[in-house]
Amino acid sequence: MTDASGIEVLRIEHRAILRMLDVTRELAHLLEAGAEVPPDMLDAVAEFMRVFGDEHLRKEEEYLFPSLGKRGASLDGMAIESLQRDHDRSRLLLEKMAAAAVGYREHRPKSDRNWGRFASEYAAVLRRHIDKEEEVFYPAAEQLLSTEQQRALGDSLRRRTEEALPQGRSQHFSAMADTMAADLLVPTL
Ligand SMILES: [Fe+2]
Ligand SMILES: [Fe+2]
Repeated sequence: MTDASGIEVLRIEHRAILRMLDVTRELAHLLEAGAEVPPDMLDAVAEFMRVFGDEHLRKEEEYLFPSLGKRGASLDGMAIESLQRDHDRSRLLLEKMAAAAVGYREHRPKSDRNWGRFASEYAAVLRRHIDKEEEVFYPAAEQLLSTEQQRALGDSLRRRTEEALPQGRSQHFSAMADTMAADLLVPTL
């Protein structure tokens, strides 16, 4: 997969993120129903999303959005802004989840329901966002960028991943999403 185009690199990351969103939603259901879950699982979701998930958002913000903004007069402006707003909203919700996770570990009242509420919204926002990217924006990017530009984007994204997540940590996070999904018996889509 070393010569995957930039968009393909981002699609591959979406798969791992969607898997972790399945996990997030399942944990949210459990907590909202009053079940107990290991606090480590809530921390693991936060770690995955803050490191692997945020690295994906940053790649789009630093490389993909600017390249579309420059070349795609018909889809820049409002459209890119709406994607950025989704990113900002998801980061805010992730911070609220992290705060609720601290409370849950300390057995503070309502922290389980709060984590569940924030996490359900987080999963919904990010899943809708990824659908929008996969159905509209990534195909548009593939039309607007030449093969050469897409290859160059792929090289930039891979370099960026190696700098931010060295020594196979990217694979570590993908495996982590799969393991947690299997632990929670989240069905494969
Ligand atoms: Fe995005
Ligand atoms: Fe994305």
